[in-house]
Amino acid sequence: MAEHGEVVRDYPFGQKHLLGLTDYSKDDILFVLEQARYFREILDRPVPKVPTLRDKTIVNLFYENSTRTRLSFELAQKRMGADVINFSAKTSSTQKGESLKDTIRNISSMKIDMVVARHESPGVPHFLTRLVDAAIINAGDGAHEHPTQALLDMFTMQQIYPDLTGKKIAIIGDISHSRVVRSNIIGLLKIGAKVTICGPKTMIPAFSETLGANISWNLEETLSWCDIAMALRIQLERQGDSTELFPSIREYHQKFGIRMEHLEKYPDFTVMHPGPINRGVELESDVADSERAVILNQVTNGVAVRMAVLYLLSGGTRV
Ligand code: CP
Repeated sequence: MAEHGEVVRDYPFGQKHLLGLTDYSKDDILFVLEQARYFREILDRPVPKVPTLRDKTIVNLFYENSTRTRLSFELAQKRMGADVINFSAKTSSTQKGESLKDTIRNISSMKIDMVVARHESPGVPHFLTRLVDAAIINAGDGAHEHPTQALLDMFTMQQIYPDLTGKKIAIIGDISHSRVVRSNIIGLLKIGAKVTICGPKTMIPAFSETLGANISWNLEETLSWCDIAMALRIQLERQGDSTELFPSIREYHQKFGIRMEHLEKYPDFTVMHPGPINRGVELESDVADSERAVILNQVTNGVAVRMAVLYLLSGGTRV
């Protein structure tokens, strides 16, 4: 059994895909995080490259907008010497009506080894496994899962607390629309952390308790005891300025936004956010830029974690 921080030797990582953390055991997750530590060191070298994937061809199949995930996967692939092709639905024959099924079959005919897929519909990565032989990595499917985001979040938390057993993680905000929260709840509970979600009642869906998270509707109280506070983006594009879910952006910020006064009052918690941030909504702008926030560390770590995932799913055993 893998313990936190312990080097796992000859672990039989048997996964072909990364569709979600639901399918990964505690040991699978800790093994990926351990491998990521090696790749994180590589990123600090003068020449941050390894030739590990030089015989692999990878397609980044993005049907939804992305900055961090898409660029971070692409950089991870290039750092490892892979041949990379980028598909964006907005500039493809999808605009002429070509189906997802035909698109992936055509791309697969070009002899690809791995697919990194983001799509607005939950289950698309699972669907792709039935169409092509390549390894499939879920880069976010609707409000379902975003497993590499949760892995990089856990990796960042381990930099602060190498053993996350019993650590109190609060995830705050728009839980209903978040794929990040689902993957984080699943992954963090598997590795022994305690997870509380916090937000307006209208934004906390039933699945949270089913997955094993605690629920709080009181930000102030939550910040008084948590070790890490991860704010989630309010998905304004789905809600407009004034919605049925909360009266106004201003009121949301007053009740659930993390502000400088919270950092001063509760000196122990670390601030995280998966991005993109709505400054002045879920985080006061100065909080996002403060030394208590590790938001850009999350982004740096994302490259290393994705290198580890690509390495293991390409057949690598251990670094
Ligand atoms: N965190 C995240 O998934 O960001 P992007 O949508 O920019 O990829």
